[in-house]
Amino acid sequence: METLKHKKILLGITGGIAAYKSADLCRQLKTAGADVQVVLTTAAAEFITPLTMQALSGNPVHQHLLNPEAEAGMGHIELAKWADRVIIAPASADIIARLAAGMANDLLTTLCLATEAPIALAPAMNQAMWRDPRTQDNCARLESLGMTIWGPGVGDQACGDSGPGRMLEATELAQLIAATFDKGRLCGKKITITAGPTREAIDPVRYISNHSSGKMGYALAQAAVDAGAEVTLVSGPVNLPAPRGVDLRRCDSADAMLAACLAGVNECDIFIAAAAVADYRVADVANQKIKKSADKLTLELIRNPDILATVAAHPQRPFCVGFAAETEQVTKHARDKLQRKGLNLIIANDVSQPDIGFNSDDNAVTLIDQQGDLALGPAPKQQLARQLIDAIAQRYENNAS
Ligand code: PMT
Repeated sequence: METLKHKKILLGITGGIAAYKSADLCRQLKTAGADVQVVLTTAAAEFITPLTMQALSGNPVHQHLLNPEAEAGMGHIELAKWADRVIIAPASADIIARLAAGMANDLLTTLCLATEAPIALAPAMNQAMWRDPRTQDNCARLESLGMTIWGPGVGDQACGDSGPGRMLEATELAQLIAATFDKGRLCGKKITITAGPTREAIDPVRYISNHSSGKMGYALAQAAVDAGAEVTLVSGPVNLPAPRGVDLRRCDSADAMLAACLAGVNECDIFIAAAAVADYRVADVANQKIKKSADKLTLELIRNPDILATVAAHPQRPFCVGFAAETEQVTKHARDKLQRKGLNLIIANDVSQPDIGFNSDDNAVTLIDQQGDLALGPAPKQQLARQLIDAIAQRYENNAS
C-alpha cells in the first residue's frame, strides 16, 4: 500500500447496494496516503450520500456534468487530466454498457472518455445480470479497450440470490489499486504462455479438437503483463481479443504450437502451459475432402509431441508450470505428470464439472509442488489468474535464490 502515497485516485461510484463498501475503500485509500476525488452518478446518490463521501475523501464530491459552479472549480476535463487512476466501484451493468458503447451522457462516462489514466471497474450486480451475455460482451469490449475488470466475487447477494456479482471487498480493491503502481514482481521477466485448444486436421475441412476456450490462458497472460512481465502468448484457435500488452502468436496444430514455443525458449524465464493440446493427430491427412463412401471410417492416429515435456527437457529450460486437466483422482494424476514431465509445479484442474474448467468463466484448481498443495477458487478466471501468477512468481523467486 506504500505505492499509494500522493497518488491521485478518481473514485467513481454508481448505483448499487455495494456502494456502502466504497466508503470504506475511500477511507483505506486516504489512510494509505492517496488523494481521492469522488464522482457519484445520480443512482449512486440514492445509495450513499455526497456528504459521507465528502467527509471521507476530504474533497467536494462531483455529481453533475453541466454544473457551472463545479466547472468553475475543478472542471470535468481538468478532473480527467488530474487522475492517475480511475476506479469505478461499484460498477453497475448500466455503467459497463454505457462505457462499452462510448457514451458521454453524464459526468462519469464523460470523464472516462476524456481521461488518459488507466480505468478499472469492480462490477457489482445480480448474478443473472452479470451472467447475461450482453454484460459479458460489454466487459470483454472494455477489456479489449484496455480497461481492467476486478471481480466480481461469488457468494450470497443482497437480493437473496447466490452466485457471481458481489463487489470485491474494499481491502482487496485497495491492494489491487496499489499494485497497479508497483513496477511488478515479474518486471524484466519473459514468460511464454500457451492457451486454447489445438486443431489437428483430418482433411481440408475437418479437424480433431477439444472444448478449451482459451479463457484461462488469456487471463494468465493478462495477469502476467499486469505483474510487469514481457509475455508471449502462444494461442490455439479461440474467439478472444488479444490481452493488452502481450505478443500474441496464433497457431493451429500441436506441431505449430511447439515450433512457436521453441522459437523463444532460450530467452524464456517462465513457461506456463495452459493449452489443451491434442495428444494425437491423424497419421495421413487427406488432401481432399473425405467422401461418404462406407458406413465406417477408420482414422489412424499418431502421438503428438508433448510441448511442455519438450520445453522442460530443453538444455536452457525455463521454470516450467503445467496444468493437469483430470476427471478423476485429480491430484494423484497431477502429481504423476509433475514427475513425468519434469516440471517445477503443476496446477491440477478438475474438468469433470460443467461450471469450472473447460469453456467456463470460473475455475477452481490446486497448485502442487514441493512446498505442498494450495487450493484456489472457485473464482472467475481473471481473479484466479492473478492469484496463480502471484504464487508462480513467488515459487520462481524461491527457485532462483
Ligand atoms: O481454455 P479454457 O476453456 O479456459 O479451459 C482451461 C483449461 C481447462 C484448458 C486449462 O485450465 C487446463 O487445464 N489446461 C491443460 C489442458 C490439458 O491438456 O491438460 P493435460 O493434463 O492433458 O496436459 C498436461 C500438461 O501438458 C498441460 O499443461 C498441457 O498444456 C501440456 N501438454 C499436453 C499435451 C501435449 N501434447 N503437449 C503439452 O504441452
